Amino acid sequence: MRVGILGAGRVGLVLAHLARAAGREVVVANSGDPQDIDYVVANAAPGARAVWATEACESDIVILAVPILKVPSLPVEALSERLVVDATNYWWETDGHHAELADPTTSTSETVAKWLPGANIVKALNHASVWELENLSRPAGHPERRGIAIAGDYEEDVDPVARFISEIGFSPVRAGALAEGVRFEPGTEAFGADATPDVLRRMLHRFWTSQRGLVVARARGIEAAPPTSSSGVARVRQNG
Ligand SMILES: NC(=O)c1ccc[n+]([C@@H]2O[C@H](COP(=O)([O-])OP(=O)(O)OC[C@H]3O[C@@H](n4cnc5c(N)ncnc54)[C@H](OP(=O)(O)O)[C@@H]3O)[C@@H](O)[C@H]2O)c1
Repeated sequence: MRVGILGAGRVGLVLAHLARAAGREVVVANSGDPQDIDYVVANAAPGARAVWATEACESDIVILAVPILKVPSLPVEALSERLVVDATNYWWETDGHHAELADPTTSTSETVAKWLPGANIVKALNHASVWELENLSRPAGHPERRGIAIAGDYEEDVDPVARFISEIGFSPVRAGALAEGVRFEPGTEAFGADATPDVLRRMLHRFWTSQRGLVVARARGIEAAPPTSSSGVARVRQNG
């Protein structure tokens, strides 16, 4: 099972390290020539290879570890029908104001999914800081193992991502469909919380009574309470 990481910055390199430590084949790409990142990749994640972005897309799991506004510049066609983990965040402070990404009626991962037509998007790994990823990876059963939230529309996409998160030393916490990713974006209690799975679950639950949750609920025309309809959970993809 090969992991392809798009982005050789802070998050991309630490995820490459964790995936190598979990025994995965790992390839990493930046926006240009892989030769430019050969050294940093080899140093951060021995055994990982620097490749062109199109080659990184030919992986079983592709992780987006680039600034969110760079997503449209990725090899969009090569990502079609791939399992893609959206670890990006929208920071208006650094990304600038962007109406589509700031829209409370959609999560930023739904916008990323729109920019990458055909890709099977799962939101995960965005709310953990680089420090948490670097320092708090723990084996299954460890009492201090931290939780990482996952949101995706289809079980067959969410399941392998959950397994990957577990392999790299964190407990996957399923948060429902991709739209539910809004509960662990920047500005929420769960974002950067470094929490155990139970604590993280409670934070995700409390989202709907938070200030941000009320804004999102009002914009989406729903009650300020966790959604109870089937649209809130990952489902099985129908073929054809
Ligand atoms: N920092 C955190 O604690 C943290 C935690 C979780 C998630 N995140 C999210 O992860 C993303 C990356 O954050 P970061 O802190 O790792 O950023 P970073 O250190 O600035 O690294 C960004 C990387 O993206 C690459 N890149 C840009 N455009 C690309 C393209 N078209 N194809 C391939 N690679 C491209 C850059 O390569 P070039 O040099 O070639 O441009 C660079 O290697 C952001 O969306 C951030 O919100 C950050």
